[in-house]
Amino acid sequence: MNESELRRLLADLSLEEKIGQMIQLPGYFQNAGNITGPANDMGFTQDDLRFAGSYLSIIGAEKLRQMQTEFMAQHPHHIPLLFMADIINGYRTVFPIPLAQACTFDPDLIEKSAVVAAREAAVSGLHVTFSPMADLVRDARWGRVMESAGEDPFLNGQVAAAMVRGYQGHDLREPGKIAACLKHFAGYGAPDGGRDYNTVELSERTLREDYLPAYQAAVRAGCELVMTSFNTLNRIPSAANEWLLREVLRREMGFEGMVISDWNALQELLAHGIAENPSEAAFVALRAGVDMDMVSPIYAKNLKELAEKGRIPMAWIDESVWHILRLKNRLGLFEHTFKDADEAAEKTVHLSEAHRRMARTCAEQSFVLLRNDEQLLPIRGDDSVFIGPYAESPLLNGAWSIFADDQDTVSLKAALRSRPKTHEVPVVPGCAMADPEHPVIGFQHPLPPEELDTEAALEEAVRLAKQAEKVILCLGEHRECSGEAASRGDLSLPRCQLRLLDTVAAVNPNIIVVLFTGRPLDIRPVSEKAKAILLCWLPGTEGGEAVLRTLLGENNPGGKLSMSFPYCTGQVPVYYNHLNTGRPWNAGILDGRFGSKYQDIPNEPLYPFGYGLSYTTFACSPVTLSGKRMTRSTSISATVSVTNTGSRTGTQTVQLYIRDLSGSVARPVRELKGFRRVTLEPGQCTPVTFTITEEMLRFVGLSMDTASECGDFDVFIGFDSRTDNRARFTLTE
Ligand code: BGC
Repeated sequence: MNESELRRLLADLSLEEKIGQMIQLPGYFQNAGNITGPANDMGFTQDDLRFAGSYLSIIGAEKLRQMQTEFMAQHPHHIPLLFMADIINGYRTVFPIPLAQACTFDPDLIEKSAVVAAREAAVSGLHVTFSPMADLVRDARWGRVMESAGEDPFLNGQVAAAMVRGYQGHDLREPGKIAACLKHFAGYGAPDGGRDYNTVELSERTLREDYLPAYQAAVRAGCELVMTSFNTLNRIPSAANEWLLREVLRREMGFEGMVISDWNALQELLAHGIAENPSEAAFVALRAGVDMDMVSPIYAKNLKELAEKGRIPMAWIDESVWHILRLKNRLGLFEHTFKDADEAAEKTVHLSEAHRRMARTCAEQSFVLLRNDEQLLPIRGDDSVFIGPYAESPLLNGAWSIFADDQDTVSLKAALRSRPKTHEVPVVPGCAMADPEHPVIGFQHPLPPEELDTEAALEEAVRLAKQAEKVILCLGEHRECSGEAASRGDLSLPRCQLRLLDTVAAVNPNIIVVLFTGRPLDIRPVSEKAKAILLCWLPGTEGGEAVLRTLLGENNPGGKLSMSFPYCTGQVPVYYNHLNTGRPWNAGILDGRFGSKYQDIPNEPLYPFGYGLSYTTFACSPVTLSGKRMTRSTSISATVSVTNTGSRTGTQTVQLYIRDLSGSVARPVRELKGFRRVTLEPGQCTPVTFTITEEMLRFVGLSMDTASECGDFDVFIGFDSRTDNRARFTLTE
């Protein structure tokens, strides 16, 4: 449809039809789909169902084609339904969790993973994914950290934009493309104490400087929808926050698409105490600019009366419906009502060889080698035993993989058994995945207790560990321990796994821990007892194969931490781009009591942002600058040369950080401004040059404007956020 036809359609709709467009119902109203929030008796009537213009969490080409056909036949204007779902890190072929994907520092690869996810979802009839989640996270206690790209604004933005490009392509009408919904606007990743849905307390400057840039990057990449967050900002829930949605998102950031609330969030305005009754909730949400009400009955039950009584102008409703119709039109639904829904294609596209290969590559690149004393890794294979709950478990997909089947996942054990060389190696659990006193709560209900004779399992593990040259200990948190509503107050490994580690390490010094997790954990005991640690996150469908290839050296790990691993839980939030404080404490520089430090733990995380080793080694030359001065219209190039000093081909991610030494507001000790991946053969050397522009030096100044200020800057180039390889330059007028 062209724009004037679409305008005419809008003008032709009855009030009920318009309100229908603004309602999204959950799939379980159609006896299908997943529940991601509380399922109240929402009081929808048959009439609401008749016009509701969107559903979430129902999948399947056949089902959705049938729903579309029936809906359109009875709709007075035959407007197609919009189908949305959470395709977070893959659909049937599951990729590593987003936090792990960010460790690849490879936006092109991340974009390709989104291309695959979109293609698989599209043939199953979906039109929109609730991804990317661009919420910056500094607190690993928050369970949804797995769905984020971690603690850095720049990396977050790169990842979010790559995902948008991958899902949407250049034209949503193209086969295999779906619309991206950026979430959760804004600041959802900063709940007090890391507890999901909790209050967020951010200064406007921190919001603008650290939290908004990633959302902005996704908006610039053209993302079609934005979802509001559950939290309050400045005591106003996002779904009622006119300043946030109209001023910041639409006017300042230039967003022109559709805004949807999060699950039941309009109803929750009552619990927030921001609306006295449902009618008031509808009023404040629409005034703020929420176009579509996800799941709650607030719009369905209240907008009509509000409009008829003249409390809300029809222009508000028309504006929202326009955003929704325009999206349906951009997807081409008025002409191709089923879009790509195709039962036959589902069979060939889902889990295709090419998709599995892509998932494996992505997993391999996301692994972070945290430690490798005595070059214990890689292993031969037949020199090792595999112990631990994750040695066998196929639960390698993140908590959001709600449309995948675990039976499609290659466990580590399955990968071992598929090769002659490792076919016979012992694989035993050694202990349960979780402690009995902390039963794992799944998306919908607590999981049944694990059946394992714990003492016998431990004895067997010890017996095998005694005989082997090396022990591969596969530990981690259960996948349901991260994700939505999975906050934790203690980031340790389960007690049963720590006991296994202690007991096995007592009989064999060559412990290699392979760590599976949805978040940074407190891994001090692992770091003390293991000579090697390979962090594999939740690696997805091809996880077992990717892990095995890496252990055997067929893949050389090169991932870098997208988030600091804290020294202990009491240290969080811990992040590299903090302010200096007036009393910065560096061991040996400001001794005694009155520095900004803890009495009992270090300030430094156990493993910092950007950190990750390789089976080879690299050297970086000192930084050379093309000049010592730049103006707002010139630039400086900063160059290092990077050499592979080891004996294997490997990939290094060279990172550029900048510190503004003095400003009108305090500046972070350093900020990531660029990165470059280089793959080098043994002995090979390459120059890596970054161009420093004035734009990289801007920040949110005193008047809340984003601008640079003249003065001195330090530029750091190295292999992680702790690098001290630096040079200084000056920005002048
Ligand atoms: C989550 C969203 C998700 C939505 C729909 C909510 O509970 O916060 O991220 O997209 O459910 O499933």
